[in-house]
Amino acid sequence: MFIIASDHGGLELKEAVKQCLRKRGIDVRDQGTINSDSVDYPDFGEKVARAVSGGEAEKGILICGTGIGMSIVANKFPGVRAALISDDFTARMSKEHNNANIIVMGGRTSSAEQACRMVEIWLDAAFEGGRHQARLDKIARIEQELSRQN
Ligand code: RB5
Repeated sequence: MFIIASDHGGLELKEAVKQCLRKRGIDVRDQGTINSDSVDYPDFGEKVARAVSGGEAEKGILICGTGIGMSIVANKFPGVRAALISDDFTARMSKEHNNANIIVMGGRTSSAEQACRMVEIWLDAAFEGGRHQARLDKIARIEQELSRQN
């Protein structure tokens, strides 16, 4: 199951991305926001990142105005690899090198057409493993060390 959320700055793009996912036959759970009222992106980033971190959702998509705030929130959660993507290249790299389980986009920086293409590229790309897996293992080790200290 896929999960998606945005703040007001990403609402319009979220609706467009949902349509693209559904056209591809992907079941996506929308965690809001539901209208253009100003909301706080951490509240929505948390919903998606918690679900991916806990294994309740396989993959997530987060959208705020720039994607920056959502990235900061999502990467606080253990096991989350949230990648802020802005073009075809970063979309592909986010899977091939980083095996991102959440992608983050900016509603004020990416068009609907670009966002849908980036989602397709991310889904179709394959993680390369090898040296990239070793790097992800290092990140996981850092996470474990930090959680033991707390
Ligand atoms: C909201 O105005 C804006 O700050 C938010 O959408 C996001 O861009 C934060 O990083």
